Amino acid sequence: MTPEEFRRSAHELVDWIADYRSNIENMPVRAQVEPGDVRNALPSQAPQQGEPFASVVSDLDKIVVPGITQVQHPMHYGWFPSNASLASVLGDITCAGLGTLGISWESCPSLTEVEEVVCDWLRQLTGLSEQWEGTIHDTASTACMTALLIARERTSNFSENSGGLQSEVKPLIVYTTSEVHSSVQKAALLAGFGADNVRSIAIDAISRQMSATALQDQIRLDIENQCAPCCVIASAGTTGVTAFDPVDEIADVLEDTTIWLHVDAAMSGTAMLLPECRHLWHGVERADSVSWNPHKWMGTILDCSLFYVKDPEHLIRVMSTNPSYLRSTVDGEVTQYRDWGIPLGRRFRALKLWFHLRLDGVDAIKQRIRRDLDNALWLVNAVEAEQDWCIVAPVTLQTVCIRHQPQNMNGEALDQHTLNWVDRINQSGAAFMSPSKLDERWMVRVSIGVESTERHHVERLWRVIRTTAHECL
Ligand SMILES: Cc1ncc(COP(=O)(O)O)c(C=O)c1O
Repeated sequence: MTPEEFRRSAHELVDWIADYRSNIENMPVRAQVEPGDVRNALPSQAPQQGEPFASVVSDLDKIVVPGITQVQHPMHYGWFPSNASLASVLGDITCAGLGTLGISWESCPSLTEVEEVVCDWLRQLTGLSEQWEGTIHDTASTACMTALLIARERTSNFSENSGGLQSEVKPLIVYTTSEVHSSVQKAALLAGFGADNVRSIAIDAISRQMSATALQDQIRLDIENQCAPCCVIASAGTTGVTAFDPVDEIADVLEDTTIWLHVDAAMSGTAMLLPECRHLWHGVERADSVSWNPHKWMGTILDCSLFYVKDPEHLIRVMSTNPSYLRSTVDGEVTQYRDWGIPLGRRFRALKLWFHLRLDGVDAIKQRIRRDLDNALWLVNAVEAEQDWCIVAPVTLQTVCIRHQPQNMNGEALDQHTLNWVDRINQSGAAFMSPSKLDERWMVRVSIGVESTERHHVERLWRVIRTTAHECL
């Protein structure tokens, strides 16, 4: 494709994207396909000859779009918001168009230095002190994996340079709770800790926060049993009910130890743009690393996860590689982000954050977050005012966990009823929510926060929920 052919097609594509976003509210929220439909609609072999652009766009409409669950739809309340602000889309398109290669500062100085700047902007915007330095990973899963790897190397005194974990006399222990995101368990297993060495610390039954006392007791027990406590992963905003572990109390427990404290704020980091929410991660300054995803609620298109550390030297010592072909005359003077994470080749991800912040502006983003918090509060009040409906977990931000609890219905029958009404709504395409288990009983998470979701959408959702739940009785 020549630049001129690209110009023509790209103009068409941008129009197509703008139309798609304008019309999204008219589409069903949930993908209306059965397993295999999309695959079977595509040829089983790649084309030998280039095809006209129009036929690709036509297949986008006919095959691809029906196979998308529309997370940008204002009636999407599933999982967590995965906002893709159009301002950030422009940044992502620019990233692709520039076609840069991020393998060293020299390979693209702008990639490195824009990333340094936007990470620092977001550090300031979330109230983190100057002792933090950040980078952008693809996902919170990678950020958590990185935190565990550097924690492992701190506890094992850089065993990677000798026998690795396999030569450690004492097993290294990771501490989390049952509420932590599944990516944490996965990262701990992949980082070689072993499932037997991941402790699930007791939580408070109501707030679902980690008990700092239980953590302290477990660490003491592990030390007595000749284990090496290594890392605590605290959740600032769990996936299930957006619970916040007491970071400050956990930091008290870890005071005077070398145990790493990582704070996973994947979803809720966005809330820290608002000073009035920062009490929720009080004590974060005492952690060793923090990560959060602008690609969730804040709205910088996937993939964009911020990872901050206080001691980049340690991170670099664990991650750095210096093959001779990457040598440059500025080594030692500049940031080499390949030494801040696992991949060598990196995309110019900072552009989407840079575009997003510059084009939308911080004030508008904060206003939207406050709107979502207000909408969640509205829903809480509406649910609480209705007989037979309940809020099943404290609402800290924008996730409202609800259950329809008709009198005399409980146990398996209640579970079946919950799944019936939520599945019926999801399948209808009118709205989408995620059923989830809380203490072994099904409930429904209403996760508010799509960029286009206004109060009237939440009001409509509540009408649909009540009507459908009653129809399912
Ligand atoms: C609290 C929490 N941590 C981590 C993750 C994983 O995020 P990612 O998809 O960026 O790996 C999620 C995803 O929803 C999450 O809610």
